[in-house]
Amino acid sequence: MGAPQYNIPGASAAPASEAAAQTADDGARSVNEVLAQSQVETVMRELDRDLVGLAPVKARIRDISALLVIDKLRRNLGLEAQAPSLHMSFTGNPGTGKTTVAMRMAQILHRLGYVRKGHLVAVTRDDLVGQYIGHTAPKTKEVLKKAMGGVLFIDEAYYLYRPENERDYGQEAIEILLQVMENQRDDLVVILAGYKDRMDTFFRSNPGLSSRIAHHLDFPDYSPEELLLIGDRMLEEMNYHFGAGAREVFDEYLALRLRQPHFANARSVRNALDRARLRQASRLFAQPERALSRDDLCTIELADLRASRVFDAAKA
Ligand SMILES: Nc1ncnc2c1ncn2[C@@H]1O[C@H](COP(=O)(O)OP(=O)(O)OP(=O)(O)O)[C@@H](O)[C@H]1O
Ligand SMILES: [Mg+2]
Repeated sequence: MGAPQYNIPGASAAPASEAAAQTADDGARSVNEVLAQSQVETVMRELDRDLVGLAPVKARIRDISALLVIDKLRRNLGLEAQAPSLHMSFTGNPGTGKTTVAMRMAQILHRLGYVRKGHLVAVTRDDLVGQYIGHTAPKTKEVLKKAMGGVLFIDEAYYLYRPENERDYGQEAIEILLQVMENQRDDLVVILAGYKDRMDTFFRSNPGLSSRIAHHLDFPDYSPEELLLIGDRMLEEMNYHFGAGAREVFDEYLALRLRQPHFANARSVRNALDRARLRQASRLFAQPERALSRDDLCTIELADLRASRVFDAAKA
């Protein structure tokens, strides 16, 4: 008896790529026509505008988009080719934007008709692997079913593989993933994410998986200047701004925080600003009689940042 063949339901009768070829951009003959009809440029512009730094990542996404647009033009002229392989790996330290970029990637793939729905399902080992015999296959298949028509993002993918444990059920999940990545690649894109070094080791031990990943994107750590700009963006999105001298203090804060344990790039920036908002709220709450202006409510003052323990640690 051969290995079981997994076919996850949820795929449309016609593969997404064919279905897309029959829609509006059927007649597109130029790059601009495809761009205009798919509105993929809007997503690319938003990606450029909303995300600070990440130049190498943005460049790779442009390359992948170019490949897809040209593939579409070829298809429109009836040039047969296997659908391009789109499975990817996103490597980088915590908080470098992997999940955020994966969501944008799902939108791009959707606009160009490579996935039907364009949603992102983010999972880790525990969502795929069961604790007991017979539990893993149904769990993995359930997740795959949810992800069909979109992107399956597996965070810290290397935890699927535990060579020290001979009977680890992770292997079973990997085998199902492999089949679906091969057989249903016209309706599901898998992105494996995690730390670079661990991912490299993982791929070396799982050549089958490695060979199915067409695009490796490396997310660099942010520079202190980029972290400050990310902070500006985040505040702006939340309708806050720095008060007099506060931005300089936040810059100092970041320089200190960067050298402390568990620093997580943009995620640490977000957490620091969340705590500053808490302190701002407490400060205002302590003046119950005062009528609060719009500006009062939107300003993160220098003191809201100075009160951070990060500055205590630096003094100690
Ligand atoms: N280049 C950027 N510009 C602006 N905001 C960013 C950027 N990168 C990340 N962020 C923000 O930082 C936070 C963390 O990003 P994200 O969750 O994408 O990182 P991650 O690499 O997936 O992190 P983790 O390893 O912790 O899962 C999010 O709130 C995101 O919006
Ligand atoms: Mg993430």
